[in-house]
Amino acid sequence: MTDTPSDDPRPYSPGLEGVLAGETAIALVDGANGRLLYRGYPIGELVEHGTYERVAELLWTGEWTQEAGLTPSPVPGPVLSALRSLPVGTNPMDAVRTAVSMWGSLNRPSWPPNAEEARAMTCLAPSALAAFARLRDGLEPVEPEGSLGLAAGFLHQLRDEVPNEASARALDAYFVVAAEHGFNASTFAARVITSTRSDVASAVCGAIGALKGPLHGGAPTEVVNQLHEIGSPERAEAWINEALDRGERLMGFGHRVYRAYDPRAAALRKVAEGMGSTTEWLALAVKVEDVALRILAERHPDRPLKTNVEYYTAAVLQGIALPPDLYPATFAIARHAGWTAHAIEQAGDNRLIRPDVRYTGPAERSVPRAAARV
Ligand code: COA
Repeated sequence: MTDTPSDDPRPYSPGLEGVLAGETAIALVDGANGRLLYRGYPIGELVEHGTYERVAELLWTGEWTQEAGLTPSPVPGPVLSALRSLPVGTNPMDAVRTAVSMWGSLNRPSWPPNAEEARAMTCLAPSALAAFARLRDGLEPVEPEGSLGLAAGFLHQLRDEVPNEASARALDAYFVVAAEHGFNASTFAARVITSTRSDVASAVCGAIGALKGPLHGGAPTEVVNQLHEIGSPERAEAWINEALDRGERLMGFGHRVYRAYDPRAAALRKVAEGMGSTTEWLALAVKVEDVALRILAERHPDRPLKTNVEYYTAAVLQGIALPPDLYPATFAIARHAGWTAHAIEQAGDNRLIRPDVRYTGPAERSVPRAAARV
């Protein structure tokens, strides 16, 4: 029996860093070599030759299909009523979580979760976020257009106009890149919830809660603020040095797993370069990136700090003129494919996830007795 922490000989890794906490066949995140594979396919090829719908089917079923015909679904009345009743100023992440929760109450998803439920949730998410974004602006939601995919359909329902080809393609590329990323915090949360035999809507609600934290889903908005503050390429060097001297971090750089250039950043940079709508902003981003990488390498010669996905996510989302406060929730709707794929995989070979914890409290002792009455 172990009474105090010093008696417990087992290794402990804060933040579970470096701990193997499960097995997955869905994605390989190869941080040392800067590779990300979904079911074996490199992310760059998936962005170039795939669509979000095909990638989602790949994540759920393991099969590559040319037939994936997912389109945004109409928002059910009770979900819409829930979105209408949210207070002014509600965080868009809370709105998506509310929509998922209400969908779960309506549909009572089964255990184990299945691909049909995953499809239903992934097709509802863009419509729900678009409806919320319009309602908060005093506008009525727009019915989905059956011929559009999920990224284009999201933009259509947001703006009540069919997006141009370049914007639709760019957002679709972002959705592909954001769909899945191994055992990150939100996916792990979804797997923990699924492991209790809870339903997939509860798992996704928990995942959205984890993604809402700024250490996980909030960086692209910060990248935009950072570039606005820098303002022009000539100011990059001085601004970066001053920020680092103050002990601040450069947003869009560094990663817990990647030591090489994040392959998602490379794929999205290509997309941003092909958009045309981002020229001036992108020129600034590229210049700032060059300066930042040089300065980070000088200051941290032993710790490779490279560009991460959020840097060029900001360029792409800025290029399609999405309001920055919708960036994290847009990430959440794209990540539905990965979360639900992990819920299905977890349930397929389930074992309750319940680690041990090192106890650091007082050793066993007696409750103080009340003083004897006189
Ligand atoms: N800018 C400046 N310095 C950074 C940095 C950044 N973006 N990221 C890490 N570092 C430095 C740390 O200050 C630390 O320096 P020290 O050893 O002198 O104290 C060293 O690199 C290691 O940092 P650590 O916190 O251990 O790295 P991590 O791998 O746990 O952190 C992130 C990963 C993503 C949290 C971190 O890189 C970060 O905060 N990046 C900025 C936010 C961001 O872009 N998030 C999106 C991630 S996809």
